[in-house]
Amino acid sequence: MERRTIGAGVLVAGAVGLGCMPMSWAYSRSQRRGESSERTVHAALDAGADLLDTADMYGPFTNELLLGRVLARRRAEAFVSTKCGLLVGDSHLVADGRPEYVRRACDASLRRLRTDVIDLYQLHRADPEIPVEETWGAMAELVTAGKVRALGVCALGPGDGPGGGGSSRPGRGGRPAEAPYAAAVRQLARMQQVFPVSAVQAELSVWAPEALELLLPWCRERGTGFLAAMPLGSGFLTGTLTPGQGFEEDDVRARHPRFTAEMMAANQPLVAGLRRVAERHGATPAQVALAWVLAQAPQVVALPGTKRAEWAVENAAAAGLRLTAADLADIAALPPARASWD
Ligand SMILES: NC(=O)c1ccc[n+]([C@@H]2O[C@H](COP(=O)([O-])OP(=O)(O)OC[C@H]3O[C@@H](n4cnc5c(N)ncnc54)[C@H](OP(=O)(O)O)[C@@H]3O)[C@@H](O)[C@H]2O)c1
Repeated sequence: MERRTIGAGVLVAGAVGLGCMPMSWAYSRSQRRGESSERTVHAALDAGADLLDTADMYGPFTNELLLGRVLARRRAEAFVSTKCGLLVGDSHLVADGRPEYVRRACDASLRRLRTDVIDLYQLHRADPEIPVEETWGAMAELVTAGKVRALGVCALGPGDGPGGGGSSRPGRGGRPAEAPYAAAVRQLARMQQVFPVSAVQAELSVWAPEALELLLPWCRERGTGFLAAMPLGSGFLTGTLTPGQGFEEDDVRARHPRFTAEMMAANQPLVAGLRRVAERHGATPAQVALAWVLAQAPQVVALPGTKRAEWAVENAAAAGLRLTAADLADIAALPPARASWD
């Protein structure tokens, strides 16, 4: 697999990694199987997809424990990427950026992952009650202590920065909202003053290209790595989901504005467009969706999530798919995705 340098040369990983979240979080609980998930991690490593992306809150904790069972045997082959700063409450998620929490969280992740060093430690969400410089300073001390090799930030939600969850829809009175991820970029600049940001993780896919405007250019200018989360549009871009199929109550897509039956039907032209390009290459729509992400910049690593070994292998093979200028133009001409709030 093609190797990509992220974070000013200190970190190198396969161009396609493995998002481990679906094994323990966000999607239907009834479909989670620990043993087959472990096989999936092994299959990804065998295929060169060595960047394993997890978080302490996936499960919570069980996803890191699962990875730990694999890493106990194959640590040297893996690039371990985990996160802290987001806690699972009874009915909602809470950010915790207190330095003492960060120190405890890192030690706990190291134990669960059965390793003595984390390759990339990411701030999952900034805590609105703690200056981000304090949290980031505590994370920087973990690098000095040798527990962590480099630091990253998750910037999920183009509307309101790391800590996100907002959107880039127009503001009140029809005034345009500021550019997607503008707040995230301001916060990254503050963090960079304290300690280098080696990688930024944010959503990037054919149906969520907002990071291309400000966030990815910020990374490119600084040699910062970019980890593309949700590159398959939570499965939609693979063409394996059927409009109206429904999602179990505990699946985030049950409440997602692009996963109503009406919007899944309305967005079919995107899948059809990916399928047309895929047919030219003897590839799958999922592989084209990933190759598009990889084509956006040389320091992008795609993090497709899956709990199935055959899909991990299929996704890893996308690293070898080179889209032509005509392919990229065809994808650029596809209609923008619609959501139920549009
Ligand atoms: N930092 C953050 O706040 C944040 C937020 C979201 C995601 N992430 C990261 O990004 C990763 C990816 O995001 P994601 O998993 O939500 O979304 P995704 O990669 O866009 O899509 C995952 C979904 O696609 C399905 N899938 C995967 N490969 C497939 C293939 N080849 N053919 C058909 N279906 C396929 C999976 O099914 P199965 O589950 O059945 O295998 C899963 O339901 C996560 O694992 C996580 O590491 C980070």
